[in-house]
Amino acid sequence: MPGLTDRRAECDVLGRLVAAVRAGESRALVVHGEPGVGKTALLEYLAGQASGCRVAHAGGVQAEMELAFAVLHQLCAPMLDRLERLPAPQRDALRTAFGLSAGPAPDRFLIGLAALGLLSEMAGERPLVCIVDDEQWLDSASAQVLAFVARRLGAESVGLVFGARVPTGDLAGLPELVIGGLREDDARALLDSALTGPLDALVRDQIVAEAHGNPLALLELPRGWTAAELAGGFGLPGAVPLTGRIEESFRRASVPKRRGPQSRPAWPSSESGCGSVIPWCARRPTGRRRRMTCARSTPRWPKSPIPRPTPIV
Ligand SMILES: Nc1ncnc2c1ncn2[C@@H]1O[C@H](COP(=O)(O)OP(=O)(O)OP(=O)(O)O)[C@@H](O)[C@H]1O
Ligand SMILES: [Mg+2]
Repeated sequence: MPGLTDRRAECDVLGRLVAAVRAGESRALVVHGEPGVGKTALLEYLAGQASGCRVAHAGGVQAEMELAFAVLHQLCAPMLDRLERLPAPQRDALRTAFGLSAGPAPDRFLIGLAALGLLSEMAGERPLVCIVDDEQWLDSASAQVLAFVARRLGAESVGLVFGARVPTGDLAGLPELVIGGLREDDARALLDSALTGPLDALVRDQIVAEAHGNPLALLELPRGWTAAELAGGFGLPGAVPLTGRIEESFRRASVPKRRGPQSRPAWPSSESGCGSVIPWCARRPTGRRRRMTCARSTPRWPKSPIPRPTPIV
């Protein structure tokens, strides 16, 4: 797992998914977990493992959520030279959806079949792994069509893997891989890897406790501190209480580097009633706080009336 702390079980699931796709089977999977927990990092790992396969990427963009078929277009645009191989009604439906020809709003069922056909055509040449990240920001038309495709995959050599904070209902019934926080020892190791100087033991303990194994938290929190503050702990004159520092650090981390200003929702403040300054520390419906040691990632296979591919795990 180059570059990844822990995540052996998760990487194993993804590795087996790629192996199955290479062997001519198809797989759908929804990788989900809270912000910063490492979904994109795992999807990048998946792409890196897919040697011999074609990898197609797409991702939800908050600013495009109202644009019907925006993400489906992202995924399929490089494949459109295969459109002619589809049955005419499906081809016409997809062409209309993508604005390549005029006509009334096309039937979603036909668009779903067309997308499935297009992916199958591509996979006929080389196994295909499709990665659709940030599912929570998919436009609903794309989500509906991609979920339709995921449910109908058979033996096309297609892998369709979604990354989602909280999967929408469209993906209900698909196999899931739930990503939890890192174990405490791994969290400490990741925190240490992000440090450039000494760290007061009390500060380390509290950062680890507050981060709940969330890699983004572990990497970003120390960056907002000076070397003296990190080394001096809570005893420095004028030091801001740790919770305030954590909140401030996350506020800074929430400013997206590459995407538009709306791409990542603002972190809730400590006044927002989540019970902690870090959003993923929000109390669960049971009222209990998430414990790092029990938040291991586990593949979950929910009950569904819809037949789905053989479970990967
Ligand atoms: N297992 C890991 N080991 C080391 N670094 C990690 C690990 N998982 C994630 N990271 C790092 O943590 C940060 C957040 O990870 P990532 O972007 O994958 O989170 P995410 O779950 O996709 O968040 P979001 O919901 O905001 O998209 C990144 O800098 C990533 O490289
Ligand atoms: Mg991500």
